[in-house]
Amino acid sequence: MKKVVSLVGARPQFIKEAVIGAEVRRQNAWNHILVHSGQHYDANMSDIFFTELDMKQPDYFLGVGSGLHGRQTAEVLTKFEELLLNEKPDLVLVYGDTNTTVAGALAASKLKIPVAHVEAGIRQNPKDMPEEINRVLTDHISKYLFCCSDLAAKNLEREGITEGVFVVGDVMYDLYLKMKPRFTPKETREQYGLEEGRYIIATLHRDFNVDYPDSLRNILEGLVQVKKETGLEILLPLHPRTRKRLSEFRLQRLIENLKTTEPIGYLDLMSLTQGCAAVVTDSGGYQKEAYYAGKRAVVVMPDTGWRELTKAGWNRLSIPESKFIKNMLADSLDTNKYLKNIFGNGDAGENIVEAILKR
Ligand code: UD1
Repeated sequence: MKKVVSLVGARPQFIKEAVIGAEVRRQNAWNHILVHSGQHYDANMSDIFFTELDMKQPDYFLGVGSGLHGRQTAEVLTKFEELLLNEKPDLVLVYGDTNTTVAGALAASKLKIPVAHVEAGIRQNPKDMPEEINRVLTDHISKYLFCCSDLAAKNLEREGITEGVFVVGDVMYDLYLKMKPRFTPKETREQYGLEEGRYIIATLHRDFNVDYPDSLRNILEGLVQVKKETGLEILLPLHPRTRKRLSEFRLQRLIENLKTTEPIGYLDLMSLTQGCAAVVTDSGGYQKEAYYAGKRAVVVMPDTGWRELTKAGWNRLSIPESKFIKNMLADSLDTNKYLKNIFGNGDAGENIVEAILKR
């Protein structure tokens, strides 16, 4: 039996590993060693996902914590390399585009351990955003590249990567379908004091949005205006980075009239998304999950890796602006047309495990 080390560390990676780990268990496919870098460590940024998504507890916890990019990446690199030297796996699995991802891929590839990248081929501007740097580098040192869509495979081809590329679908779609029976929209709305169809869910954490006082102020003023002019409540779960910046820039007064919460776990967020009017987000994963829930998202980014959704007119790139949001909500798109399996059929996890077993 093969030995595979799977490295996670941040919220979106727990969600992806949940699918792969479950599929490996179902097929008894290989000896699956789960490693948590510790990039995210608060209970509601980490533990909650392991509990809610029935994940096994990590076999190793590297405990790197927060820090400057260089230090954080270097610490994962050093600790993970040591672990790999001891474990000697046949393959390393990394997910998405975080500092944990690139550090894991680098440690493994230098030891000549093949790397499999889940969610490969995503490209977006600005090219100097940390996540873009991480994903480009990871793709170029991975042996197996698991893409969510044809567009991602085309992006790789444009950079000369054609070998080991598999279009498998999106593991986040697998998870959405699997967890749907456990969503409790009505109860969760009641718990958060929200009325069906009468609220927008907003999430913000990107460096270019929250690390600069002017851009953070601009976005929050936009949300306040949206609330005023649409009458919709704004639910704003606060990422710890955003909370920190709000206090550093003394912008807390701007959120006084918004409904802020701590970061929300997967089940509550998906349950709330079922009944929202729209989503405003700079999260890569959440703009796609909104689409799975049949909701449209204003993507607060200059560009997106999920261009299929913006090209179709389903999601739009913009800062939150009431006229824009009103127009978006008023123009009716044919849901059936845009809900057609762009990101697979919910069997991405199975496809990935099969591809690895066959290699
Ligand atoms: C990281 C990923 C990003 C992903 C996001 C999901 C990188 C470069 N970015 O961004 O791709 O979309 O995770 O959330 O890897 N903090 C806490 N508690 C925690 C975690 C973080 O307080 O459990 C605070 C710390 O002040 C930290 C800051 O949040 O400095 C940022 O955390 P970090 O992991 O560096 O980046 P994210 O913004 O979370």
